[in-house]
Amino acid sequence: MSHLVAPSLLSANFLNLEKDIEMLNRSEADWIHLDIMDGVFVPNISFGFPILNLLKKSAKKPLDVHLMIVQPEKFVSEIAATGAYMMNVHYEACTHLHRVVNEIKKHGMKAGVTLNPHTPVLLLEDIINDLDMVLLMSVNPGFGGQKFIENSVEKVEVLKELILRKNTQTLIQVDGGVNLDTGKRLVDAGADVLVAGNFVFAANDPIQTIHELKSL
Ligand code: DX5
Ligand code: ZN
Repeated sequence: MSHLVAPSLLSANFLNLEKDIEMLNRSEADWIHLDIMDGVFVPNISFGFPILNLLKKSAKKPLDVHLMIVQPEKFVSEIAATGAYMMNVHYEACTHLHRVVNEIKKHGMKAGVTLNPHTPVLLLEDIINDLDMVLLMSVNPGFGGQKFIENSVEKVEVLKELILRKNTQTLIQVDGGVNLDTGKRLVDAGADVLVAGNFVFAANDPIQTIHELKSL
C-alpha cells in the first residue's frame, strides 16, 4: 500500500472553512485530520462538535478525529454521530485504554491510539493487535507549525518492528512538523499515514503540495 495523506484542518482558514474543505475534496488527500483540544490535556482549545457536525455535510473524505482531551471515553457516541471514520485517543489520557478501544469499535469506528513524543512505543505491546492505527506525535500536541522532533523517525522504525513481530495490520500515522523532507524519511521508516497542517495550508498551491506529499 502506498502511504496516505491526511491534511490537518487546524491550519485552515476558519473564516472560510467551506472553501478549504472543497479544496481538500478536489485534492489527492485521503483523509481529513481534525484536531480537538480541550485546554486541559493540551494548552490550547480548538473546535468541537458544532464544526464536526457541519463538516460531515461537506467533506467527501473520511474524517480522522484526533482527540487531545482528558476523558475521551465520555464522547465516543458523540464522535460516532459526526460520521467519523477514525477516532484517535491519547494513551496518556486513558486509564482503561482497552475498554475505550473496544467502545470505539463497537460504535463502528476505527480505533487509533496516539502517543506523545515522550511515550515509548513498546508500551503498546499488549494492545497493538486491537488497534487499527497508532498515531505518533512528532511535536508536543497543542499547536500547528511546530518543529519536527527528530527522534520520531526512530519511533516509527521501532513501531514497525513491533507490528511485524505481532503480525497485525495496524497503521502507523505521524503528526507534527511534516513536510517533504521529514515526510520522506517517515515513509522510508515505515509510516503509512502522514498528517500535515501548516505545510499544506501555508503553501501557495495546497493541491500541488498534497500531490507532492502523496508522491514521496
Ligand atoms: C498538533 C496537531 C496536529 C497539527 C499538525 O497538536 O495534532 O495535527 O495540526 O500541524 P503541523 O503539520 O503544522 O505541525
Ligand atoms: Zn493531530
